[in-house]
Amino acid sequence: MSYENILVETRGKVGLITLNRPQALNALNSAVLGELLVATKAFDADDSIGAIVLTGSEKAFAAGADIKEMQSKTYVDAYLGDLLSGWDDFARTRKPIIAAVAGYALGGGCELAMMCDFIIAGDNAKFGQPEITLGIMPGMGGSQRLTRFVGKSKAMDMCLTGRMMDAQEAERSGLVSRIVPVGELVEEALKAAAKIASFSLPAILMNKEAVNRAYEMSLTEGLRFERRIFHSLFALEDQKEGMAAFAEKRKPEFRNK
Ligand code: CAA
Repeated sequence: MSYENILVETRGKVGLITLNRPQALNALNSAVLGELLVATKAFDADDSIGAIVLTGSEKAFAAGADIKEMQSKTYVDAYLGDLLSGWDDFARTRKPIIAAVAGYALGGGCELAMMCDFIIAGDNAKFGQPEITLGIMPGMGGSQRLTRFVGKSKAMDMCLTGRMMDAQEAERSGLVSRIVPVGELVEEALKAAAKIASFSLPAILMNKEAVNRAYEMSLTEGLRFERRIFHSLFALEDQKEGMAAFAEKRKPEFRNK
């Protein structure tokens, strides 16, 4: 598959996807979505890949859904076409995805970063849900995911005023896991992804699945789910290897079995 709007590379056991539509600050149109889905599905299917990094440019991770593509749509177009629902498929990627965010992550760009498993921000990152300034509201999960990340008061502030949050505020609020100098952003994200990818693949996927369940279930059901999949990990050779390596004071050699 040749891509026109993204760049796709592998670095060892890490898949690196770079949004590459600089003329529109990586605005997310249907072509970008289509290519992202092909690339993430391919990485999901590739047993040699353990984690993915998604990034943009230094100026913009993504400045939102493509306003010009949406501008002339009617209600019927939006409803019958189930506008933006394709992004739910991106959020169902099974392997961990780190969003490495520099510059603007606005509207759908902020929402895309939040669909990833965690966000590492460059020190120039700016997050926002400015849809209200266009006479609309978030449509790729912003009103729901941002509220879960930063709480009601700040999510209301962001959605109702359309103001941007800088990297420091985003880290203080829990939107971002860490901030790094923008020049080191991609390398730092690749390092974190390589660390993840060095572990047992089934354990990686089960950790991701369990943390995501915390957003979907009551605490009692979530704890039960965690306990059950925790038990299932004892069926893996990798559990035997990981614990034997600890006891023998050596590095484990995981075989994803
Ligand atoms: N959609 C389409 N094109 C976009 C875009 C977007 N979201 N954001 C930027 N662009 C285009 C601009 O139109 C411009 O193209 P032209 O050169 O052809 O005019 C080009 O990218 C460069 O942008 P600017 O000249 O505006 O760059 P700037 O540095 O002056 O400003 C910015 C940067 C503050 C991010 C500004 O571009 C901006 O405000 N963009 C829109 C942000 C926004 O409202 N995002 C929400 C979109 S709606 C949404 O995402 C809904 C949802 O929930 C899914």
